[in-house]
Amino acid sequence: MEADFWHSRWQEGRIGFHQNDVNGFLQNHWATLKLPEKSTVFVPLCGKSLDMLWLASLGHRVVGVELSEIAAQQFFAEQSVQPDVVKGDRFTSYSANNVTILCGDFFDLVATDLDGAVAVFDRAALIALPKDMRKRYAEHLRQLLSSGCQLLLVAMEYDESALSGPPFNVPWAEVSTLFDHQGELSIVTEQKADARGTPCLERLYRLIYG
Ligand SMILES: C[S@@+](CC[C@H](N)C(=O)[O-])C[C@H]1O[C@@H](n2cnc3c(N)ncnc32)[C@H](O)[C@@H]1O
Repeated sequence: MEADFWHSRWQEGRIGFHQNDVNGFLQNHWATLKLPEKSTVFVPLCGKSLDMLWLASLGHRVVGVELSEIAAQQFFAEQSVQPDVVKGDRFTSYSANNVTILCGDFFDLVATDLDGAVAVFDRAALIALPKDMRKRYAEHLRQLLSSGCQLLLVAMEYDESALSGPPFNVPWAEVSTLFDHQGELSIVTEQKADARGTPCLERLYRLIYG
């Protein structure tokens, strides 16, 4: 998906991907990562996800990246918080209360932008991207993170004849191809769900980067 696609979605308020609750997988499985309280957590393609608020409530510092400044503005406005806004060359950063949203392109990030992140929560980031971009995404994410970092990834599998993404069908075989060689990959759990009305299997994966 090109940037214009996502900018239009935010401008027109077509954000059906946004959840009004904190992600259930995150709430149920985050503790298994056993992270120290003040660890930095990276949330790629973050939108205005409430998952960031929940992570910050645990004492984590949260860094998200998001193309749309509308998303960042709405995230802070909906908490009645006035963020600090700093314009840079690659990103405009919005920060308050231990959450920083870097507005710009994920593929422009360098490791130092992530403030020493030791964990990543990916919900609707990998699966928002078409196949060629998913490969680039997995490779770029690896370059941003150090060995020992942990990723919790939500991906979904469905009958492609019933739906064209986003969200895209990203089955276990593809997740394995993208990430298995990067470290220790496992399936944490799975549940039946629906992708824009199409039945799907939603899986939570954990990767410990080697
Ligand atoms: C499907 S939404 C998911 C948002 C969020 N993760 C959530 O759970 O609500 C994908 C988001 O990624 C953003 N996005 C897409 N491509 C991006 C890129 N290259 N860099 C940064 N953000 C991007 C879009 O603007 C959109 O808000």
